[in-house]
Amino acid sequence: MDILRDADLKPFNTFGITAKAEALARFRDVDQLRTLLAAPELAGMPRMILGGGSNVLFTRDWPGAMLLNEVPGLDVVREDDDHVWLKAGAGVVWHDLVMHTVAHGWGGLENMSLIPGKVGAAPMQNIGAYGVELKDTFDVLEALKVDDGTVVTFRKDDCRFGYRESYFKREGRDRFVILNVTFCLSKHPVLNTSYGNIAQELAKRGITAPTLRDVSDAVIAIRSSKLPDPRVLGNAGSFFKNPVVPAAVADRIRAHHPDVSAYPAGEGQVKLAAGWLIEKAGWKGFREDGYGVHKDQALVLVNHGGATGRNIFDLSTRILRSVHERFGVDLEREVNII
Ligand code: FAD
Ligand code: EPU
Repeated sequence: MDILRDADLKPFNTFGITAKAEALARFRDVDQLRTLLAAPELAGMPRMILGGGSNVLFTRDWPGAMLLNEVPGLDVVREDDDHVWLKAGAGVVWHDLVMHTVAHGWGGLENMSLIPGKVGAAPMQNIGAYGVELKDTFDVLEALKVDDGTVVTFRKDDCRFGYRESYFKREGRDRFVILNVTFCLSKHPVLNTSYGNIAQELAKRGITAPTLRDVSDAVIAIRSSKLPDPRVLGNAGSFFKNPVVPAAVADRIRAHHPDVSAYPAGEGQVKLAAGWLIEKAGWKGFREDGYGVHKDQALVLVNHGGATGRNIFDLSTRILRSVHERFGVDLEREVNII
């Protein structure tokens, strides 16, 4: 296995940030990963696993080994009359997995079309879009335990999935390398078109009896119209989570701003749209030197070219403070800050 020294990480993060890793190597299976973890050349170094680099911000060089996950595989491991259990290697591109399920008529992932990144990172923050989250079709995953090299099976409850949350983002961080994920998909899909503009987009296309492919195409069209393509404009999607606050906080904001975007989030809690808060705090379209806030979606921070990770991190701190001062609401970063 090749180990590259002093490697450039710019091609490996969608923000397009220039940073170096002391060492960089790729693995395609658990044996290669074990070999790398035991390699004398990498001994004592911090290690980080990277998938598509679409949810990281490098604010410094990485003083250790960056291990690129390229574990392949898409296999049906079980099926019955109603469901199919599909096991995906952690290095499979997420959108390729979704396209595979749509092509086979297996329902469950179509609303999450076009989310960047790889399968192995998807449980990390329980990815979600258009009313669906990874946890809804998740069955089981296998991960390598870094300290003893054993492969551990995690069932749904073990993963402690929440909104952009999981065990792997908290206590399990840096302790496990996810190797594969098995999804339980439906052979008789019930389409979820109630969220956002999906129904509107289908109507615009004159579709009255949508298929899985139609829903996937609609989601792709909506996402492409709203979110910047990282190949054109560096970004990592939503930079912050949508904050969940007591209903009284939302009521206080609504008293001054009847148009506030807020959704019920269970037991007296309300989820506020962070994009709305950031826009109202005056940041939408903000631009300074090579970085800024996207002109169409204030939740997305962008690298116009030449920004450092520190520039973008500092901008995010200014936004956090400003939203706190304006609305008394604390935002939390969604992106993994390195
Ligand atoms: P990376 O950025 O490579 O890694 C993210 C984190 O996971 C890092 O801490 C890394 O160390 C860790 N990690 C990666 N692989 C493994 C592994 N195998 N085992 C253990 N840890 C690992 N997210 C959503 O949820 N919904 C969206 O709608 C959405 N839209 C986006 C739109 C755009 C334009 C962009 C750029 C991003 C968007 N994201 C969205 C965020 C991102 O796509 C997801 O978080 C995705 O799952 C990240 O995958 P990745 O492979 O790029 O992870
Ligand atoms: N809004 C504004 N101004 C803005 C942006 C949004 O007022 O600049 C308002 C919109 O008008 C809308 C509300 O905020 O009323 C929600 O906006 P949108 O539908 O664009 O979704 P979001 O809450 O900003 C979330 C996810 C996205 C996911 C979409 C679709 C989070 C942090 N983000 O964005 O995920 O694709 O919903 O389901 O939950 C990501 O995680 O990286 C990501 C892109």
